[in-house]
Amino acid sequence: MPGNTGRPLIAPSILSADFACLADAAAAVEDGADWLHVDVMDAHFVPNLTIGLPVVESLRAHTTMPMDCHLMIENPDRWAHRYAEAGAYNVTFHAEATDDPVGVARDIRAAGARAGLGIKPQTPIERYLEILHEFDTLLVMSVDPGFGGQSFIPEVLAKVRTARRFIDATGLTILVEIDGGINKNTIEEAAEAGVDCFVAGTAVYHTDDPAASVETLRRQAAAASPHLHS
Ligand code: DX5
Ligand code: ZN
Repeated sequence: MPGNTGRPLIAPSILSADFACLADAAAAVEDGADWLHVDVMDAHFVPNLTIGLPVVESLRAHTTMPMDCHLMIENPDRWAHRYAEAGAYNVTFHAEATDDPVGVARDIRAAGARAGLGIKPQTPIERYLEILHEFDTLLVMSVDPGFGGQSFIPEVLAKVRTARRFIDATGLTILVEIDGGINKNTIEEAAEAGVDCFVAGTAVYHTDDPAASVETLRRQAAAASPHLHS
């Protein structure tokens, strides 16, 4: 079962796959990966336009993988629960996009999915610690949202450490997810800082063997992590 299993979770991001063949991209990692990360962008919250609700609905029928929908959109209050209804396993929206993150989280959970809170690299974590119990995942962005293939911003690991300490001290089961620039050179420091779930686009889909890349990343994360094992 995906979830808080005590081993590193790997979530390939189909942003780096061929958009004309998304079902094939899912199938390529289905056996080894944990979640399929689906980047939804609206050209308003971020300067890029990608996948929306109809594509998520179609993908649902073509893969058994839990879909991890990352909404980089304005008005998550209006849209987030729709992704849960479309069959997403986890729906993450951005803290910067709403005045009512708890309300959005409750709508997502009521619609049957896990709820995730996303924060951009420049957004402090402290103000959100007290609402983490309303969430199942905390997605710390390690690049500015909008595009795959960017360089990892190591300064965000301070936020991961803060969240990890808070979660462990309070006994929450929320998973810490990191997204952006994760590859064989960066995954170990993220694992050491306390990440549970690793999103990787370029490092999975821009390789000759996506499934093998998933396994390599998982082994590296497991070996480097003080709190996870393979
Ligand atoms: C960026 C997206 C990421 C992206 C990661 O805004 O949220 O999920 O696909 O891609 P890589 O792994 O190439 O940085
Ligand atoms: Zn993402």
